[in-house]
Amino acid sequence: MSRRLPLVLLPVALIMALVLGYYIWQASDGLPGLGRVVSEGTPSIGGPFTLIDQDGRKRSSADFRGRYMLIYFGYSYCPDVCPTTLALMGDALAKVDPKGARIVPIFITIDPERDTSARMKAYVRAFGPQFVGLTGDVKTIGKVAGDYRVYFTKHPLDGGNYGMDHSSVIFLMGPDGKFIGYWDDTAIGPDKLAQELREKT
Ligand code: NI
Repeated sequence: MSRRLPLVLLPVALIMALVLGYYIWQASDGLPGLGRVVSEGTPSIGGPFTLIDQDGRKRSSADFRGRYMLIYFGYSYCPDVCPTTLALMGDALAKVDPKGARIVPIFITIDPERDTSARMKAYVRAFGPQFVGLTGDVKTIGKVAGDYRVYFTKHPLDGGNYGMDHSSVIFLMGPDGKFIGYWDDTAIGPDKLAQELREKT
């Protein structure tokens, strides 16, 4: 075997290494370890939580095992989107499970500084008797919202008050607490949501 052969093969080996590297890079959705997208099975949305309900009692995610949770994050001072979405959830559930025997609608505030238990009680009552309103301390709420990939931030309003910008997504979690699916609240009406809830629960 000639000692020159490896030199001749060097450009070929380099090209092969580049092609292979390119495919590995593509397959890993970018540079390994940097913003890599992992997509195996169910996406990791949600997680255990312990918060305070509208009656001031501790409520944990484990308390809802055996029932589906229909979860929405928002805040009671929201001028339009939150009440519209909660009404949509209430309307859909009135058609599918009006007593909340199988599906519990849960409103989690992302504005715990103003949304006390008492305020949540008065607020959620308007959307249906089966609604659960959850609040907590700022840190815990931040953790739960993060587990659901819910984004929120304060924005100042004229007069010294503030509003909240926030993701607006309705989550469906299974009787085991695991993520089943979600809806963009602006893209679905009560009839369609009711139909999909019938199919998925
Ligand atoms: Ni809102």
